[in-house]
Amino acid sequence: MARVNRMVTLAARPVGMIKPTDFKVTEAPAPEPAEGEILIALKAISLDPAMRGWVSEGRSYVPPVAIGEVMRAFSAGVVEESRNPDFKPGDAVTGMLGAQAYAIANGRNVMKADLSAGPIERWIGGLGMPGMTAYFGLLEVGQPKEGDTLVVSAASGAVGGIVGQIGKIKGCRVVGIAGGRDKCDYVVRELGFDACVDYKAGNISRQLREACPKGIDVNFENVGGEIMDAVLAQMNTFGRVAVCGLISAYNATEASPGPANFRSILVNRLRVQGLIVTDWVKRWPEGVKDLVAWNKAGKLKFREDVRTGGLDAFATTLPLLYTGGNFGKLVLKV
Ligand SMILES: NC(=O)c1ccc[n+]([C@@H]2O[C@H](COP(=O)([O-])OP(=O)(O)OC[C@H]3O[C@@H](n4cnc5c(N)ncnc54)[C@H](OP(=O)(O)O)[C@@H]3O)[C@@H](O)[C@H]2O)c1
Repeated sequence: MARVNRMVTLAARPVGMIKPTDFKVTEAPAPEPAEGEILIALKAISLDPAMRGWVSEGRSYVPPVAIGEVMRAFSAGVVEESRNPDFKPGDAVTGMLGAQAYAIANGRNVMKADLSAGPIERWIGGLGMPGMTAYFGLLEVGQPKEGDTLVVSAASGAVGGIVGQIGKIKGCRVVGIAGGRDKCDYVVRELGFDACVDYKAGNISRQLREACPKGIDVNFENVGGEIMDAVLAQMNTFGRVAVCGLISAYNATEASPGPANFRSILVNRLRVQGLIVTDWVKRWPEGVKDLVAWNKAGKLKFREDVRTGGLDAFATTLPLLYTGGNFGKLVLKV
């Protein structure tokens, strides 16, 4: 029987928060692999904050997804048919394979997933793109040194949870910022952070001062806005700000005001650098090796928030990221 592919396509450019009508699920016969290609049955789709930017018009680091196009997504699945000698049916693979049931790949654009190191969804989470963002973003851009105070926002999330744990491995005092008591308790008790600021409890600046008595040397910024302003005001001289994400503004319909404490960059001689994880794509195996080793040694934990409902639930599950409705790496099971 011919295989049917189900695909999440972009139906309309979202205005503000994503609505269910911005996406639709369409069906077509599944593609057949040509010589050198593999057919992958996708099992898990990564839902990422960046998706909001990918469906917006305007200049960015990748072109916008076109209306009618399959939604861009990191996903993981199992090879169902192979016409490539490097892959056999049953191999687990990951890559930028889209939000759909089946994908074709030529072998160069996928990575094999070793399921003995973690379940398939982890290969689009802690051992995939978000894990690599934490690893290279912190080590290459944040450049933490032993004894530094590291502050990371969205601390219980896919990237933030790993950043803080690597910070501990590197000998830093690690302070998270997260929304709500449960998430803060989790990063301290489960992930081993030294403290966590609950930004929903108010007075972020006072909470930060108490948690960072020696000031802040490294800020791994995932959120932006008022949270980043509060952190910038407490940076130490020659500190580093790794700008990984600005999620608080991803659904904004008006231009956000600039950082209120830009002056801190001048007076403290801060180094502020943006980062995009794909800049290190050739070095990902290095990151995977370390994260797997730390996990095996009991120094690093992963947390996935796996949702069911399949591709039909894509448009209603993705917005959880922008309201803090996820707890850990948000993954949709196909
Ligand atoms: N530069 C890169 O290459 C790269 C790659 C991957 C991810 N990122 C960025 O890294 C950040 C985290 O991504 P992730 O995949 O790890 O997501 P995540 O942290 O697992 O989920 C997003 C979290 O952001 C927090 N959040 C959402 N809206 C917020 C707001 N208005 N104010 C404060 N916090 C808010 C929520 O946590 P709370 O409940 O704690 O509020 C939510 O759970 C995002 O900014 C993302 O764009 C960048």
